Amino acid sequence: MNIGIITISDRASRGEYEDLGGPAIERYLDEVVESSHLPVRRIISDDQDLIEQTLIELCDREACSLVVTTGGTGPAVRDVTPEATETVCEKMMPGFGELMRKVSLEKVPTAILSRQTAGIRGESLVINLPGKPKAISECLDAVFPAIPYCIDLIGGPRMTTNESRIVAFRPKGR
Ligand code: MTE
Repeated sequence: MNIGIITISDRASRGEYEDLGGPAIERYLDEVVESSHLPVRRIISDDQDLIEQTLIELCDREACSLVVTTGGTGPAVRDVTPEATETVCEKMMPGFGELMRKVSLEKVPTAILSRQTAGIRGESLVINLPGKPKAISECLDAVFPAIPYCIDLIGGPRMTTNESRIVAFRPKGR
């Protein structure tokens, strides 16, 4: 299973600061995903066309069953990750954003500033995370139990998790 990881940040893409989010997502997935998986990493600027093209590339050409983005979900002018996600996805999955904001609000009041969402493009699940590296495990721990079954439902390969970290939920007999 290929898993896309996209860091969306003007400054990280120009090399003005180190991309901490992409490597943190990769480490998270190595810890949590037990089935064989290969990260496909990109670092790009907050440009809506480029975000859309990169999402399409990772979903359609790299056949990533899961694509996780970090950054660009806030209210600033250049924050357009949710718009790009909505443009390329056929179906939105609003429950992911709702749950991630709910758990994040228990940690930080500015969690309401994130417009993070999720959606389906073909056989790929796209999930937005905020740009703060500490948001990665806070958000993914909440939604990860539902990710393997979501990937089953869209026709992807079977993902298994390290059950000491995340217990994936599948309806009985699946
Ligand atoms: N969610 C979590 N779990 N932890 C955080 O530190 N930061 C918030 C919010 N969500 C945060 C969070 C802040 S300060 C902002 S501005 C928004 O995410 C949007 O961040 P982004 O534009 O980097 O995506």
